[in-house]
Amino acid sequence: MDKIIKSKNKKLKQVLSVPGDKSISHRAVMFSSLAYGETEIEGFLNGDDCLSTISCFKKLGVTITFQNDKVKVIGKGLRRLSAPSEILDVGNSGTTLRLLTGILSAQNFTTNITGDASIQKRPMDRVIKPLSQMGADIIGKDGGTLAPLTIHGKNLKAMDYTMTVSSAQVKSAIMLASLYADGETVIEEPVATRNHTEIMLNYLGANVKTVGKKIICTPPEELFAKKIIVPGDISSAAFFIVAALICKDSHLIITNVGVNITRTGIITALKEMGADLSVINRRELCGEFVADIEVKYSHLKGTVIEGAIIPRLIDEIPILAVAAMFAEGTTVIKNAEELKVKESNRIKTVVNEFQKLGADIVETDDGMIITGGKMLYGAEVESHHDHRIAMALAICALATNGETLIKNADCVDISFPKFYEYIESL
Ligand code: S3P
Repeated sequence: MDKIIKSKNKKLKQVLSVPGDKSISHRAVMFSSLAYGETEIEGFLNGDDCLSTISCFKKLGVTITFQNDKVKVIGKGLRRLSAPSEILDVGNSGTTLRLLTGILSAQNFTTNITGDASIQKRPMDRVIKPLSQMGADIIGKDGGTLAPLTIHGKNLKAMDYTMTVSSAQVKSAIMLASLYADGETVIEEPVATRNHTEIMLNYLGANVKTVGKKIICTPPEELFAKKIIVPGDISSAAFFIVAALICKDSHLIITNVGVNITRTGIITALKEMGADLSVINRRELCGEFVADIEVKYSHLKGTVIEGAIIPRLIDEIPILAVAAMFAEGTTVIKNAEELKVKESNRIKTVVNEFQKLGADIVETDDGMIITGGKMLYGAEVESHHDHRIAMALAICALATNGETLIKNADCVDISFPKFYEYIESL
């Protein structure tokens, strides 16, 4: 599907809420499948990625029903998944593939697992290597670096491991394997990444301690079912935050957004750029922090985004680049080489597609440099089947002269199924 976005000359004024957090929705289905008892998940993200997680766990013998945004999971307990009779398909979802690999490494059966064309190009050695140190037996394509994977379940050993990439998916895969290990696993994380796995495992009765940069995982006897409420996804809210910042005289309030500190780099960076943005009504929900975000049209200025903040805003870099295009001066994004192995090579796709709209944006080895304030005009652009690229282009098009045609625009269904209806309602 292609989509035409016209520039909005009107100010955006609205109170809105965004769909559930993708990372937390995946984990809610996975961990409640491994817990004893029945879990109700409220606010679940009805996006293609999270539906892939449901489909995989159904094939592993878990009973899962889904109506509106409520999911019911009848958990099997840690050791009662059953061997799937067919290959598991994660679609476009790296989180499903990498976290499941950790779980499946410790089962008493063999699983074959694959995904779409993009997934089959994304690095899997980053999970296979540490899991193999625990005794996992995983065979991948191209010398064990790529999916499809064959995972022969084994008894796993505990280990001490220092992360070599800043990746919550890799950390989570090791933590999930450690639930089945023969002792305490200690993971050292030089740069902190999102900690939803730590929070939700503890919420369901596991024993995970974070001490400084170390995460200490003691295998629990079992996990126990408990109702899970998923907050709105800050990664989805980010698109509307930037829309309000760049469309004249706008004022939006986005309610019920997850504001876990490991995810709020976008707020820190935008405030640094001069955004009129407040986080209000902060409260705790199932171990996670949730708040409302109020944002007004602002005069933005360029900044440098680098170092430890990168994992806290890694998924928001495409839309942050849009904010930078409307800022005064230059924005430099560094240390973001992880963007090259996302759903698309997001350094190249952001640079190439926004140049078509007239942006002054250049690629560097580990990020990009954007000089703001250039006149942007509508053009034909391509999503590269990457949901966050499609949405960033659409938001930019709202504040651009003329019409923008986004090719393959329906990939937004991965994380934000009604995205274009939201835009039209603004
Ligand atoms: C995610 C972790 C991040 C993020 C992805 C979701 C997660 O990936 O980009 O969208 O749910 O753990 P990496 O772990 O590869 O950085």
